Amino acid sequence: MTIKYIGSKRLLLPHIEGLVESLGTIKSSADLFTGTTRVARMLKRRGQFVHANDILAHGEVLGRAAIATDARDVNPATLEELLKDLDATPPEPGYFTQTFCRDARYVHPDNGARIDAIRARIESELTDEPLRCLALSSLLIAADRVDSTTGVQMAYLKSWAPRALKTLELKMPELIEGPGSVTRMDAAQCARSIGPVDLAYVDPPYNQHSYLGNYHVWETLLRGDQPESYGVANKRIDCKTRKSPWNSTRFIRPAFEELVDSIDARWMIVSFNDEGALTTGEITAILETRGSVRRVDIEHPRYVGARIGIHNPSGEKVGTIGRTRNIECLFLVESRG
Ligand SMILES: C[S@@+](CC[C@H](N)C(=O)[O-])C[C@H]1O[C@@H](n2cnc3c(N)ncnc32)[C@H](O)[C@@H]1O
Repeated sequence: MTIKYIGSKRLLLPHIEGLVESLGTIKSSADLFTGTTRVARMLKRRGQFVHANDILAHGEVLGRAAIATDARDVNPATLEELLKDLDATPPEPGYFTQTFCRDARYVHPDNGARIDAIRARIESELTDEPLRCLALSSLLIAADRVDSTTGVQMAYLKSWAPRALKTLELKMPELIEGPGSVTRMDAAQCARSIGPVDLAYVDPPYNQHSYLGNYHVWETLLRGDQPESYGVANKRIDCKTRKSPWNSTRFIRPAFEELVDSIDARWMIVSFNDEGALTTGEITAILETRGSVRRVDIEHPRYVGARIGIHNPSGEKVGTIGRTRNIECLFLVESRG
């Protein structure tokens, strides 16, 4: 169970796991752009020590819960009791409800008032880890299940999505046995600071769409910082200034070169999509500075809009249908050391 996420490696996971399997014994790994932590969780379930990193707060919170928490340190009955108690918190509308449920309409105000009240209790009552991050992770996943968007927070639906009318419900987050760690920082900085690992997984953003802009509501919910917001989407004001080089056609190449240079790992698995700002040839050339490169291409049906075509209000097909399949590339690099 996790959040809806652009670029989540849900469909690619078996292919990534197959590659990992082929490498033999891997004891430690780093997922440097962890997002939903899907890949990091797969690695941890395989018994590795995993470090998860993302620049955004949701990656850190989901990572603290699923990766940095050792399931053996949590009493499931205590956690279940805590979530039940939090779930019963009386609604109390606050900043979240006003900003994201009334001024904008990402979540129904009835659920918004519950989110505000539960978030406030987590802040004041849960100062210790891992219970704090487990509760936050559960709240994030619960909020995502009742949102009213098409999946990103650039806009919200005109009328409430059916799921937005359901009642927010805190559920047990996934717990995995074993050690792990988490950071919230730039991936290259993280790679330099964690030291050597057997395997680094690299899944950066590959086009101009900013993850902060796409998931700004979750960033604000988890930071709890109540920032000034702007525009119809009511984005946090720092969406204007917190820019990632990975979203820039000009800066993505130096960012990728710096990252590849910073990683200290025998193996690297790099995900990229054939519609990204770097061509597969450019990626291969950069990776070859570190060792031998093997590429695996996986074809996927494209997002539903491209498959069903563009229709006018009377339901007739208009315009040209875009590509209906895209190719996800996995690059396996064995470092020369
Ligand atoms: C393609 S998504 C990763 C998806 C992830 N593998 C999954 O399965 O959920 C790219 C991620 O990179 C993060 N990101 C963007 N710029 C970053 C940076 N400079 N350092 C670390 N993470 C960054 C985004 O927040 C986003 O979660």
